[in-house]
Amino acid sequence: MILITGAAGFIGSNFVLDWLAQSDEPVINLDDLTYAGNLENLAAVDGDSRHIFVKGSIGDFDLVAKLLAEHQPRAVVNFAAESHVDRSIHGPEDFIQTNIVGTFHLLEAVRAYWGGLESEAKSGFRFLHVSTDEVYGSLAKDDPAFTENHRYEPNSPYSASKAASDHLVRAYHHTYGLPVLTTNCSNNYGPFHFPEKLIPLVIHNALAGKPLPIYGDGQQIRDWLYVKDHCSAIRRVLEAGRVGEVYNIGGWNEKPNLDVVHTLCSILDDLSPRADGKPYVEQITYVTDRPGHDRRYAIDATKIERELGWKPAETFETGIRKTVQWYLDNQAWVANVTSGAYKNWVGKQYGDKNA
Ligand code: NAD
Ligand code: TYD
Repeated sequence: MILITGAAGFIGSNFVLDWLAQSDEPVINLDDLTYAGNLENLAAVDGDSRHIFVKGSIGDFDLVAKLLAEHQPRAVVNFAAESHVDRSIHGPEDFIQTNIVGTFHLLEAVRAYWGGLESEAKSGFRFLHVSTDEVYGSLAKDDPAFTENHRYEPNSPYSASKAASDHLVRAYHHTYGLPVLTTNCSNNYGPFHFPEKLIPLVIHNALAGKPLPIYGDGQQIRDWLYVKDHCSAIRRVLEAGRVGEVYNIGGWNEKPNLDVVHTLCSILDDLSPRADGKPYVEQITYVTDRPGHDRRYAIDATKIERELGWKPAETFETGIRKTVQWYLDNQAWVANVTSGAYKNWVGKQYGDKNA
């Protein structure tokens, strides 16, 4: 049994679906169902006894302690976080509370549980913390990609809060011997991506006939990884990563934002042409840049490949086409997210105060 936090979100739900497709080991999914948590992502495992959903926060020490005592997991994988840079700029408080304070309470509960395990269970236990390349800050055009030794230089409240959580995880290993693993991954894309992030937002706005907003000059570079490849890397690190180590995860797919948007438009021209026959690029609109916008991220994924033999299965070209097709095939999911209807389930299940 493993405990996965934040598994009603984008990456966590993909992780659970892939995990249960490959293994019979049950998962407990602890998720507070913020705006980003959507149990419709997990409809495919609805009623599956291997998936136990618990609504609650990683910051709730008593709840986490109770779940650990009851289910005795062999590992905790921590996805739970506030994850959107633009939201962190408008309101950093939730990022501090969840990403820093929440991770601290989670670590405290895990440390107490782990300290009480018998020797074999204790040495086999793992706490895997899922983090981001954004903690390393921004690269200039010709800088080498981020290795695990790159200095931390977070620039947004989001990346600063993730950096703080990485440091806490590191300290719990160094000070208390907690068997931790940390992964720092580049930008993900794929199914169940909330349409506030660039790729799903562009697909949604294109199909809705709305503007495709490009921040600044659109020449900022991100290093894109298909979400299923991120999930396979996390499984591999959990299985064979060296305790206390950090693994950078990326797909060697650096692209300027404008190129990504052009690619999305041309796939949509092909798979779902506009009624007026015009190209979707006509909807591109330049808007005011994000304050403090990081210019370039790039991951050097040599270590995880060399030590653990992990490589991504998708190229950007194959992954992005699958992603566009997924959004076209799952318009009801998108409609429920954009209308807010996905929250009705929470309202029904937990009362209106949580809806
Ligand atoms: P997401 O915003 O889609 O999902 C986050 C999930 O965490 C949601 O289900 C939300 O309800 C839950 N959550 C929030 N606060 C919580 C709390 N206090 N207790 C329990 N659950 C809580 O995020 P994502 O894109 O799936 O990212 C998952 C993790 O991966 C994050 O830690 C993020 O920093 C990291 N990451 C994301 C990317 C990316 O491109 N999306 C890249 C690298 C790393
Ligand atoms: P985003 O998906 O928010 O991820 P992150 O900020 O974590 O990298 O944004 C990806 C890139 O796309 C980033 O450089 C900001 C840019 N962007 C736009 O140009 N327009 C948009 O509407 C959004 C949401 C992002």
